[in-house]
Amino acid sequence: MKIVNVYEPGKVILFGEHFVVHGSKAVAFAIDKFVKVSVTKSDFLSVEISFPGDPVIKDKVIRHPPEHVSSNVFLNYIVNLTRKFNIGNVRINVEVGFPVAAGLGSSASIAAAVTKALYTYKYGIVPSKEVIYEIANQLEVEIHGNPSGIDLNTILERGIVLYDGLEKRIVNKLDSGDFTFIVSDTIDRRSTGKLVKSVSLIKNEMSDLFNMLVSIADKISSYGFELLVKNDVEKIGRLMSINHGLLSAIGVSTTKLDYLAHRAIELGAYGAKLTGAGGGGCLICLCESQKAKEILQTFNSLGYPSFIVKPYYGDEKIEYE
Ligand code: PMV
Repeated sequence: MKIVNVYEPGKVILFGEHFVVHGSKAVAFAIDKFVKVSVTKSDFLSVEISFPGDPVIKDKVIRHPPEHVSSNVFLNYIVNLTRKFNIGNVRINVEVGFPVAAGLGSSASIAAAVTKALYTYKYGIVPSKEVIYEIANQLEVEIHGNPSGIDLNTILERGIVLYDGLEKRIVNKLDSGDFTFIVSDTIDRRSTGKLVKSVSLIKNEMSDLFNMLVSIADKISSYGFELLVKNDVEKIGRLMSINHGLLSAIGVSTTKLDYLAHRAIELGAYGAKLTGAGGGGCLICLCESQKAKEILQTFNSLGYPSFIVKPYYGDEKIEYE
């Protein structure tokens, strides 16, 4: 096999982030923006990661010639995997087609795509989701400390999922539905691990109250999933805004995220919330498809790079040359 190209989607959390780490359910969906990994035969081992979809680091390229010991977690993960699979000399090219460290699951998507591409290159068969999960989750643990598993599960499963943070598995799935979401990037980058720790501090300080918030998030997520099944966009939007308030209450929103959430509603969105760990990163809003253009133009002109995302319900995206 000469070349393997693998595409793995990013993800958006619609309801229940942070609380899912403490056992609530959460709703997430795979997005129609991808990490692409190519593996090609070469005379020496090289790795290159570029970020064409990230407005902050779009001109940056991270490289790993074999003589360098790298401190970048992604490069280390990739180089270690080539050793684990005893893959020899290959050129690995990773292109991240959406913002990184911004709530869209870039680390899980990179880990899954690289694992799938190297495994397929080596063994000539596509690994099962379980095999990818087990290997890729090691990177998630290294980066995030205590991941709920929602990112990797959503990315590998595709579609819209209801994830149970207690059972650490997908308990329901939606394979269709035409929703128009806009993602807006605050351009502020942050660490998921640090934000997850900051929320744990609140749990330690006031556990009874925190557990009540977890059960509210659990209800929001279950109800939100029902609304998605019914395609009730107005109520989904209202629930997103309620969820944003809850995330604000535990200190993971920012001035920019709050501003964008209010502005989205003023511009006619059904609802808006931060997505992922917060502390910067991205806002997601749900709107009528005719409203999307105006919201996109306004947010882009205010300096918040924005784009439309839709749930990705598609199959395996893998090419052989
Ligand atoms: O911001 P992201 O893409 O790393 O998403 C993190 C989601 C959290 O709920 C905050 C953490 C987790 O492991 O579920």
